[in-house]
Amino acid sequence: MVIAHRGASGYAPEHTLAAYDLAKKQGADYIEIDLQMTKDGQLIAMHDDTVNRTTNGTGKVKALTLKQIKQLDAGAWFNHAYPNRAKAKYIGLKVPTLDEILNHFGHHMRYYIETKKPYEYREMNQQLLITLKKHHLIGKGSKRGQVIIESFDADSLKTVHKQYPNVETIQLGDANKMNLSEIKHYAVGVGPNVETLRAAFIKKAHKEGLLVHAWTINDEQTMKDMERWGADAFFTNYDDKALTVLKQA
Ligand code: G3P
Ligand code: CA
Repeated sequence: MVIAHRGASGYAPEHTLAAYDLAKKQGADYIEIDLQMTKDGQLIAMHDDTVNRTTNGTGKVKALTLKQIKQLDAGAWFNHAYPNRAKAKYIGLKVPTLDEILNHFGHHMRYYIETKKPYEYREMNQQLLITLKKHHLIGKGSKRGQVIIESFDADSLKTVHKQYPNVETIQLGDANKMNLSEIKHYAVGVGPNVETLRAAFIKKAHKEGLLVHAWTINDEQTMKDMERWGADAFFTNYDDKALTVLKQA
């Protein structure tokens, strides 16, 4: 499977609806959403814990209200950083909330959601579960696999697993530091940094009954290696490239 890392972030400003729409159009299996939480407790799609890199504003997400964040431009930075991929329509894009993304795609997309620094945002796990439940993406009547929750933080995944054992969770980290026999109690798989990943680790994880979703792979040769080594999925900024490689394999 191909996971659109921060949306189709090789072509459009990461974590914007433009990047997510493009990922869907390109045929990604999942869109990845990193979560941060605003001062007033709203979950937004953003990788960093500050707005500095991906908007025209400054400051910590947790020090800003959603209203303040909504005033920022989340697309113009991309045009400056990648002039050969710049598009006028990216100027003025807004930071989306998780709720807005789920409203936008409904059940017509699969979501791969990362709790970022949940130990800093005490309400993050519960807010996430409440939001997913509201959209009927978890719990009674939901389809298994419609949502995957990923985190570097084991406690966050354990909290999700305890309340919703049918929701798939993925433990992120370095392959060489993962305790597979511990992880299998609360996760369906592992998400190793590809820099730390070897074919033997994938075999070992599979023996433990764990899936392997590697990140982040943007070059064709490594995509081919993932296919050959039997990885179950990988994150990429270039879904189109990945899908072509997998079709040819
Ligand atoms: O979530 C997998 C991968 O995205 C982890 O790295 O820093 O891009 O969130 P990061
Ligand atoms: Ca991520």
